[in-house]
Amino acid sequence: MASILFAPLTLKKITLKNRIVISPMCQYSAIDGFANDWHLVHLGSRASGGAGLIIQEATAVSPEARISPCDLGIWKDEHIEKLKTINEFIRSQNAVPGIQLAHAGRKASVSVPWEGNKKLDIGHEGWQTVAPSAIAYHETEPFLPTALDKIGIEKVLSDFKTATKRAVKAGYQLVEIHGAHGYLLHQFLSPLTNKRTDEYGGSFENRIRFTLEVVEAVQSEWPSDLPLLVRISATDWAEGGWNPEESVELSRILKEKGVDLIDVSSGGLVSHQQIPLEPNYQVSFAEKIKEETAILTGAVGMITEAEQAEAILKEGQADLILFGRESLRNPNLPLDFAADLNDDISWPKQYERAKGR
Ligand code: FNR
Repeated sequence: MASILFAPLTLKKITLKNRIVISPMCQYSAIDGFANDWHLVHLGSRASGGAGLIIQEATAVSPEARISPCDLGIWKDEHIEKLKTINEFIRSQNAVPGIQLAHAGRKASVSVPWEGNKKLDIGHEGWQTVAPSAIAYHETEPFLPTALDKIGIEKVLSDFKTATKRAVKAGYQLVEIHGAHGYLLHQFLSPLTNKRTDEYGGSFENRIRFTLEVVEAVQSEWPSDLPLLVRISATDWAEGGWNPEESVELSRILKEKGVDLIDVSSGGLVSHQQIPLEPNYQVSFAEKIKEETAILTGAVGMITEAEQAEAILKEGQADLILFGRESLRNPNLPLDFAADLNDDISWPKQYERAKGR
């Protein structure tokens, strides 16, 4: 019997050839936000490797939205050209190119992971970060983020809008808004990082306001017949933080607003989080959101095997499976998974002689 993992899924006018998604993963390899051949080879080889959807790494909507100085960006028109070339290649492999639009908020301005993720000096390599409230991620950080005022919020919304306009020009067929992992949107959602007393803080309705405004800003430029996803952290894994029930309520509202799928991750907001890491550790959140709101969901996190992914889909816990580190280990993971599940899928013609073990 044919697997569900290799069954197509249609989102708006886009049909993914299978349910395998390359999870967005920062490569910290850009200069001034520009994509280069690393991104072409990295994303391109995963497209030729058979994934249905490739979501490009957290891509900054402004220079200060970057996590590190080496993040990809889409804050100026000059960024479009190379991204367009990459997307054309991805599409030539029958895969769908997606982009994750992001703002790192208080977690911005750090060195790349292989240089220790250290907070960078303002004015040297680093910059002043922004957040809902002036609370640093680590108590030891030398600078506090600036709490965004109304004008600052308007600027971020306008940055998401113009970034989306460029994403359309660059030929993406799917956009994902990064609302997870302790970055700016998540900082507004969680009472642990949002201590505002204006209309953006306090009640659940106020804390989700900024996320909904970002969604509207993106929708104002994104074609209504192309899919829009939101990645959330379903829980902060910390006392008094954002929780799964709030995630369900937010997802319900996002569904009403026309969001097509919630990509369900968790954590990343506070350094004292306690995450029970194990295979499928986030899948129950995707299942809960799907069950209680009927929106489509994506499951991610320590999913590494074909049978494991197939079981999640079969149980109806999620509709898409995102692979992070396992897809770094093996760019041809979908080709291997098809063999594992006895699905006969087409290989790139250049590789056909390697098909069959
Ligand atoms: C990530 N992750 C991530 N998540 C995200 O939403 N945007 C991003 O840009 C990144 N960047 C990133 C870089 C690298 C090198 C890794 C390993 C991870 C998280 C990733 O998408 C995924 O959610 C997690 O890695 C969990 O899935 P796996 O790796 O257990 O399959």
